[in-house]
Amino acid sequence: MTHAPQHTIEVVAHRGASEDAPEHTLAAYMKAIEDGADALECDVRLTADGHLVCVHDRRVNRVSNGRGAVSALELADLAALDFGTWKGREESNESPDRGDPALTSVLTLERLLELVADAGRPVGLAIETKHPTRWAGQVEERLLQLLKRFGLTDPRPGSPSPVRIMSFSARSLHRVAAAAPAIPTVYLMQFVTPRVRDGRLPAGSRIAGPSIRIVRNHPAYIARLRRAGHHVHVWTVDEPEDVELCARLGVEAIITNRPKQVLSQLGRF
Ligand code: G3P
Ligand code: CA
Repeated sequence: MTHAPQHTIEVVAHRGASEDAPEHTLAAYMKAIEDGADALECDVRLTADGHLVCVHDRRVNRVSNGRGAVSALELADLAALDFGTWKGREESNESPDRGDPALTSVLTLERLLELVADAGRPVGLAIETKHPTRWAGQVEERLLQLLKRFGLTDPRPGSPSPVRIMSFSARSLHRVAAAAPAIPTVYLMQFVTPRVRDGRLPAGSRIAGPSIRIVRNHPAYIARLRRAGHHVHVWTVDEPEDVELCARLGVEAIITNRPKQVLSQLGRF
């Protein structure tokens, strides 16, 4: 077991339990829930016909048997693709079995929200808006409409929001904060910038989301962010020594491809 932190560190499954199952599929999210993850991370993009789907890359080429940009395809086009087989193929020379197509098809955010609602225990959701600036506010608008439908835009007073929205785009988070101030926003940081150095966040961003590389190389900046009163959520933390470092620094959340291992290291299972 690792250094005991002062508080319970939230363990967030990055794209689901994506080391064990194909990222952003129901299979990966069901495994993460089964493994005990506190929350699920997902990236969202708009399809050509205005649906929010959980896909990381701009194109579907890496994670499916199709080609093309998500933004140029309709949901029906995406639904015809296999988002599962690439994962097995990457790891073995044998031709992998796709498994149940219902678990390895494109995942809409709506379906993921249903899964979380039916999980049988509280499961958080950390939703990342990908390339939101090219859509002039449509991504945030659709996202908030959907969250509202699930009753997630106005958490009960005194209880923490089960959903937060993350982005590398300060503008995207600003839009979210203006339209739904009760939803926490996480400003993702990949490189050291003056903001990171000074422990500041842009207007509309509530939580700091540094990469593990920043945390490893500049722990003093993380301490500064925390002294400034910001919670810190670190991505993507898969190695035991990095989990140990995050626990020592007292971060609030760890985003990982290996929720089961991280929970075990933190003495949660
Ligand atoms: O959780 C934040 C992290 O997911 C950002 O990087 O490229 O994995 O979306 P990426
Ligand atoms: Ca992400």
